[in-house]
Amino acid sequence: MTQSPVRTTKLFINGQEVDALSGETFETINPATGNVIAHVAQAGDEDVDAAVRAAHEAHVSGVWREKSAAERSIILNRVADLMQENLAGLAALETEDNGKPINESSFIDLPMAIDAFRFYASAARMISGQAVPLPGALTYTLKEPVGVCAQIIPWNFPLMMAAWKLGPALAAGNTVVLKPAEQTPLTALRLAEIFSAAGMPDGVVNVITGDGRTGASLVKHPLVDKIAFTGSTEVGKQVMVEAAHSLKRVSLELGGKAPNVVFADADLDQAVNGALFAIYFNQGQICTAGSRLFLQDSIHDAFMEKFLSKIATLRIGDPTQNTTQIGPVASQDQFDKVTRYIEIGKKEGATLAFGGEVLRDEERKGYFIQPTVFTDVHNSMQIAQEEIFGPVLSVIRFKDEDDAARLVNDIPYGLVSAIWTQDIKKAHNFARRIQAGYVWINTYNVLPVEAPFGGYKQSGFGRELGLGALEMYTETKNVYVELGAQAPITGWYGV
Ligand code: NAI
Ligand code: MG
Repeated sequence: MTQSPVRTTKLFINGQEVDALSGETFETINPATGNVIAHVAQAGDEDVDAAVRAAHEAHVSGVWREKSAAERSIILNRVADLMQENLAGLAALETEDNGKPINESSFIDLPMAIDAFRFYASAARMISGQAVPLPGALTYTLKEPVGVCAQIIPWNFPLMMAAWKLGPALAAGNTVVLKPAEQTPLTALRLAEIFSAAGMPDGVVNVITGDGRTGASLVKHPLVDKIAFTGSTEVGKQVMVEAAHSLKRVSLELGGKAPNVVFADADLDQAVNGALFAIYFNQGQICTAGSRLFLQDSIHDAFMEKFLSKIATLRIGDPTQNTTQIGPVASQDQFDKVTRYIEIGKKEGATLAFGGEVLRDEERKGYFIQPTVFTDVHNSMQIAQEEIFGPVLSVIRFKDEDDAARLVNDIPYGLVSAIWTQDIKKAHNFARRIQAGYVWINTYNVLPVEAPFGGYKQSGFGRELGLGALEMYTETKNVYVELGAQAPITGWYGV
């Protein structure tokens, strides 16, 4: 692995690159090597204030919201074009900062981020209202931007999360202060440069780096109108409590512990591949991770035999290599958390069927953990109930559909789920029984930008993606126009 020079990054406020006023910085590392790759500005309260004020002034001035939808669309498409032109560099930077295999950065993260900007470039032009003609009156709705949106995102899909948040907010005419995660701030800063190059007016998109303190300061700021947060359920709850003081609009995309349910009549080879992708994609660091694999009794052993023979072939190592399928987890904290859960699983009495070890050698100096599988897991175990956010799978048996439905829903989360069966009625009927915002049938982790994505229960609320995401970023105003000669209220008081 080649080591790039350590750089120093700034905040992006009102179209300018500036240092944090305190001069404070923190380090971001390459999780594959443990090496420091950048000193990053830590935004304090004053910097948050400057960014929010810039966004507020840009909102009030109308420099963005008063542009035609066609003009907004052109700029968002330019952003997509510039990302496409710089795809290789952005993908390499994402892999360096996050540790994900370069194939995933290049062929999944970047294309999906670009696609989100293209979709919302088009969607900007579809925002419309409703008109209701009434006797002697006309009433119609305006969809107006909410205002300043604070967007706080995690480290698992840094650019993709930025695109999912910025796309709809900007399409609808809002201004934004984006805070990337402290573990992976670098690509969001590159994206800020791309916005400038695309001709985005100053102040419309601001990117400030910092840890949870920066996020908390942003959430508190009185000039923030809306908060969109993706991250842990724990922090999501704090965000909601804090937002309540001034009734800021909130949308939350939080944790998950997704059930992946394989019925005896499934195509087993497809289900095995799907289950591998469900749990090991992005080292299991994805809110949609299929971390609870439910296998119907009669196929449990046959399925596990195929699954374990495939898992042994996965190539874990240097994420900059095209052949690598699994990289390191993203940080020391995540490494500690995942290894702790592996110990918990052993203590709880589950059977460690594969993995469970840390990998460390010349090629793998950073946070590498073997893909891990626990069988004989009971639904009440911690490894079945708590989000591990790493390459650790819990396999649970079930008898029949009723048993599966009970087990699948016996959890505080409800983000996504999947069913593998060849029986069309069973698939659709079972889809209705699952308490989750997404159900895949005979596939996994496919998230087209056209379709709504978001959680039930403690996985959050509000929906990202699709045209529906525009609802998260608009207020509805109704305008009532009197057309009759005699308005109903005229003369009510006899005057
Ligand atoms: P986190 O929820 O602390 O961080 C997510 C984002 O929120 C980051 O940008 C962070 O700086 C910011 N943040 C932290 N504290 C804040 C506060 N008080 N107010 C406002 N913003 C704040 O998640 P963390 O610590 O990175 O990961 C912990 C666990 O959370 C993971 O192991 C995983 O289980 C879960 N997680 C889930 C994600 C998802 O996509 N659903 C994404 C990231 C983490
Ligand atoms: Mg945290």
